[in-house]
Amino acid sequence: MQSSVAYLADLYQEKGDLHYEGEGVTQLAHAWQCGQLAKAEGASPQLQLAAWLHDIGHLLSKKEGTPTTYGHDDRHEHIGGNYLVNIFSEQVSQPVLMHVLAKRYLVTTYPDYRQSLSADSIRSLELQGGDMSENELSQFIEHPFAKDAVSLRRWDDIAKNPDLKMPLKADVIAELLKLAKECQ
Ligand SMILES: [Fe+2]
Ligand SMILES: [Fe+2]
Repeated sequence: MQSSVAYLADLYQEKGDLHYEGEGVTQLAHAWQCGQLAKAEGASPQLQLAAWLHDIGHLLSKKEGTPTTYGHDDRHEHIGGNYLVNIFSEQVSQPVLMHVLAKRYLVTTYPDYRQSLSADSIRSLELQGGDMSENELSQFIEHPFAKDAVSLRRWDDIAKNPDLKMPLKADVIAELLKLAKECQ
């Protein structure tokens, strides 16, 4: 596995069409939608890139399909975050590493948030640890990247619109590549 921006683009070229099972969008569409939401909110280029790449762990992982359907937490946030830390600053890798913690934080802190989650997100939530303890909550809140991780999570949850028309795959990957080079 190579730690390079070119490899990232190849990964989306090869595996971006994989269906994000249970969500109605492909991996590339989910990445693109998440990145567009971050851009629309004026996020920094690094946070925009984190939004694009937050689920790259699913593509890097050997497992196909949706691991939660067979009761397995694939720890994709660690696979992705630990991979990205070799290429980009922590402004990119930390929100990726923390996007699952951010879901657990939001579920624990905002009771209505759980209802907004997709079926797959609810299924994975329990495998990922469910509600946070007091200790986990305070550790999360004090983390310097907690705010970015929560923003990313909010975009993540709505970046699953099957009706949103995406530009051509080549153009989408070119946009990702340009942003990634900017963040190196
Ligand atoms: Fe994720
Ligand atoms: Fe996601």
